Amino acid sequence: MDESVEHLRDEILERIGRCASESEVEQLRVDALGRKGQLTQLLRGLKELPAEDRPKVGEQLNQFRRLAEERIEQRLVSLKAEARARMLSGEKVDITLPGSRWERGRIHPLTLAMDEIIDIFLGMGFEVARGPDIEDDYHNFEALNMPKDHPARDMQDTFFVSQNRVLRTHTSPVQIRTMERRKPPLQVIAPGAVYRHDDDATHSPMFHQVEGFMVDRRITFADLKGVLTHFLRQVFREDAGVRFRPSFFPFTEPSAEVDIACVICGGKSSTSNQSSCRVCKGSGWLEILGAGMIDPEVFRFVGYDPEKVSGFAFGMGVERIAMLKFGIEDIRMFFQNDLRFLRQFR
Ligand code: DAH
Repeated sequence: MDESVEHLRDEILERIGRCASESEVEQLRVDALGRKGQLTQLLRGLKELPAEDRPKVGEQLNQFRRLAEERIEQRLVSLKAEARARMLSGEKVDITLPGSRWERGRIHPLTLAMDEIIDIFLGMGFEVARGPDIEDDYHNFEALNMPKDHPARDMQDTFFVSQNRVLRTHTSPVQIRTMERRKPPLQVIAPGAVYRHDDDATHSPMFHQVEGFMVDRRITFADLKGVLTHFLRQVFREDAGVRFRPSFFPFTEPSAEVDIACVICGGKSSTSNQSSCRVCKGSGWLEILGAGMIDPEVFRFVGYDPEKVSGFAFGMGVERIAMLKFGIEDIRMFFQNDLRFLRQFR
């Protein structure tokens, strides 16, 4: 008996050492110590031994049982530690690798130009007003002194939504809507989208304008000149040449078109015999704004007394200004969403 106990003990301890997983250890526990396990069988056989041998062998078997249980627990602990170490080394992160980058968005060039224009006027004390893109005939034309049969309506290739509703062809109706609601003094700009049936390298069926106007007692053409000259020198260059030419708009009298010296050739194209400039076509000037003193008729439409107040108004195309500022040759670039183009602006 002594011998067979020793033999079994060695065998079991050796098997514990060879267990490679927790489940193998559990199986071994059942095989050795379970109800039908080898050690349990030996303990049952005790009663067949001579009475004087029983205490000694019994003590041996119990010692062995405690030893086996201890070794099994140890083995389980070390298997868990090994598994954890394996997991940790598998998950190791190399913190010296470069991270994955988030690509920064860019601001659309039209938004850049628009924000800059608005900022300059805010700096001169103007406030921002907005109006609807779908406008009625009255605000888009009639109240701007363009009655139904007026030839000036032809200049604005209008998208009609219904007989009486249009996609606004300019931001000037915001002048009317603002003056209808409020009394002078007013110093307002109205940025926004406008729509015309036109589509080529310099015209887009949807584009943007910034309208502006100022109404108070004794506003003169000199105020108009001062405000616009300051504005243009802020957007383009401090020393940009600015020129006012007589023109016509139904809603202003007198009216002017405002030019700046060509931003490409600096106006040299008109004074030299060099090959003519692509952008100003050799004239040396770029038309950039329409403007004028608000027509008394317009004041009558909104219930202002033209004997008491006067004002100026102006309108400009944002795409045109952005094209000149950034050297963009085709207006369609703004709307094609080509990332190679858009990524160039900050
Ligand atoms: N509304 C005109 C257009 O879209 C631009 C314009 C010209 C606006 C003269 C004005 C102005 O306020 O005074 O063609």
